[in-house]
Formats: sequence, structure tokens, C-alpha cells
Amino acid sequence: MSKVVAILTGGGDCPGLNAVIRGVVRSAVLQKGWRILGIEDGFDGLVDGPRYRELDLASVRGILPRGGTILGTSNRGNPFQYPREIDGKMALVDVSDEVLRNFRQMGADVLIAVGGDGTLKIARRLNDLGLPVVGVPKTIDNDLRGTDVTFGYNTAVGIVTEALDRLHSTAESHSRVMVVEVMGRDAGWIALESGIAGSADVILIPEIPFDIEKVCLAIRRRNESGSRFSIVVVAEGAFPAGGGKVTQLRAEQNLGVERLGGIGHFVASEIGACLPMETRVVVLGHVQRGGTPSPFDRILSSRFGVKAVELIDREQYGMMVALKGRSVVAVDIASAVGSLNLVDPEGDLLKTAEALGIMMGR
Ligand code: F6P
Repeated sequence: MSKVVAILTGGGDCPGLNAVIRGVVRSAVLQKGWRILGIEDGFDGLVDGPRYRELDLASVRGILPRGGTILGTSNRGNPFQYPREIDGKMALVDVSDEVLRNFRQMGADVLIAVGGDGTLKIARRLNDLGLPVVGVPKTIDNDLRGTDVTFGYNTAVGIVTEALDRLHSTAESHSRVMVVEVMGRDAGWIALESGIAGSADVILIPEIPFDIEKVCLAIRRRNESGSRFSIVVVAEGAFPAGGGKVTQLRAEQNLGVERLGGIGHFVASEIGACLPMETRVVVLGHVQRGGTPSPFDRILSSRFGVKAVELIDREQYGMMVALKGRSVVAVDIASAVGSLNLVDPEGDLLKTAEALGIMMGR
């Protein structure tokens, strides 16, 4: 049966989004003969408007290696808590009725929501309200449950690893401590895996509140053993034991989304206070999300896009595509959202890092 499929990309952008869009469009058009409508700017495009455009084969030509998303995205557009000005003040209100109305107006049968925890939570609620949804898990943070890995993560780890390789030579030449702050929100995956791949000396992650005295001791011991430089990788959500996360915005500016950042400078100034070494900070920031996806992410994203079309063909709504082992399968969106996939402080990856002599802040 012919279908009209809408697709949106929500939350922060991520390498591989365009590859998913291309996978959906190519398989839906070539295999099924369906129409695809691309919603602009995430759920924002369903609140005001609707704003969308037809996606045909020509419109996805050449986008496989392109970073970002041709549809645009927003990580402010939660229809259940949408910022609206009321009596001259900003407030968060439920506009899900408008979303349902606008979606019907588009004439679409089903929505593919490509996003992380926030986007998929919204998608699930809309599905419960009668808007059929299929989810595709995205995030460089790799913090979603229900899938072994999200697309975008492999690319981010590659970017950070390359940065660590480059920082090694300059840190060694100047006998400096380089503190490298990386993304990941409340999960330490990017810091941990890129730190292992990039031969970091210290890795600080949110799952293990760190002891700065032990960090300083580890760097001092490296100096005494003849290695007069150190590379410290700090996840943006890491925090000292007994302390709190470092954020960039005041609480009233957050509008539901906390902006992490600044822990790298805190760690550097603490190291500078306990050791007579020049300590510098590198904040990799959005470089980790930009640019072309790795071959792994291009393949995973393409598989996810094709699988999403297959789920729609079988009318398996409320489900999300996921990687389990070597297979792409369907899981309930509910099993993926609600709690995060965090690093196990006693898990195999942590043990590997510590066995290699990497100081994990404890
Ligand atoms: O979730 C992806 C991510 O890049 C996080 O690692 C980071 O904390 C956040 O998004 C940054 O979002 P924004 O670009 O909106 O500041």
C-alpha cells in the first residue's frame, strides 16, 4: 500500500543524519514507490507551519558524506514544553495539539523521528497520542539505551582521537599538561574510548567523581619517571567528588536544556595549583559533531534508514531501529528512553583503561 512518510531530525546535529535521510528516501522511493516529506528544523517545523518539503531522489543526491542535516534541527523544540511568550514572559507550554493538527494537514501517514533521548521521548509521547512514529537513534554521546551504539559516536571518537594524537607532540615538546575537554553530556563514552585510543594519561568521566589530589599525584609520578608531559581528557559532565557539574548558563537561561562546559578550565587550574607545570586547556566543542561521518557511521546510518522504511512497511509503530550485535533490529522506543546508557565504572572498558595505566580519577 502506498504511504506518505514524514521525516525530521531533532536535537543536536550529528554526522550521519544526512545518510539516514538518504537511506530512507532511496529505499522508500526505489523499493516501495512512497512519497517522503522532510520536516524542517525538528519539531519546530511541526509547531509553526507546518514547514516541510518533498524529498525525492534528486534532493538526497550527494549528501551521504555531508555532516549536519539538510533538514535543519533544533534542540529547543519540545512540543510538550514549548517556549512561548505569555504576558511578556517566557514560559514552557504544551503545544502537542498543534503538532497533531499540523501533521494531519501535511497528509502524512507516519513520522520518522531521528534523534537522541529528548527527541525519542517526544516521539514516543506523540505515538501514544495517535501519531504513528518510528524512531532512529542518533547522538555523538552514545548515551541511548536499546542499541549497542548510536550513529555519530564513532565519528566523534575518531575526531577526538586525532586531536589527542596531535596534542601529544606539542605537549611533549613544551613539557606541558594538556587538558582536553570533550562532549558527552552525562556519559563518559567519548572521553573514555577516545582517551584509550589516543593514549591519554588521565581520563575523567561523569560516572566516576574525581579526586584532584590523585590526579596530581599521577602526573607527578609520570614526571618522575621521565615523561615530562601529560594528556588529561575531561568529559564535559565530569565533576570532583563532593562537587557539582560546571555549566555555562544560569538556571533561568536554560529553558529545559542545561549547557555543560568549563570543567576543563577548572581541572587545569587545580593541576596548576598543585604542580609546577604549565597547564593548557583545549575545548574541542562542536568540532566533535561537525563534518563528514566515518565509514562506520555512513554504513550504520544507511542501515538505520533502510530499516526504518521496513518497519513502516510492517506498520511496526512506536518502535526504534537499533544495532544489536551485527544486526539491525526493531526495539520498543520505550526501552531506549527514560534512563541513560552510561559507562559502567566496574565494566570491562574501565578495567582495560586502568590496566593500561590510565588514571581514571579515583
Ligand atoms: O548531545 C550532543 C551534544 O553535542 C552534547 O555532547 C553537548 O553537551 C550538547 O550536545 C551541546 O549542545 P548545543 O550545541 O546545543 O550546545
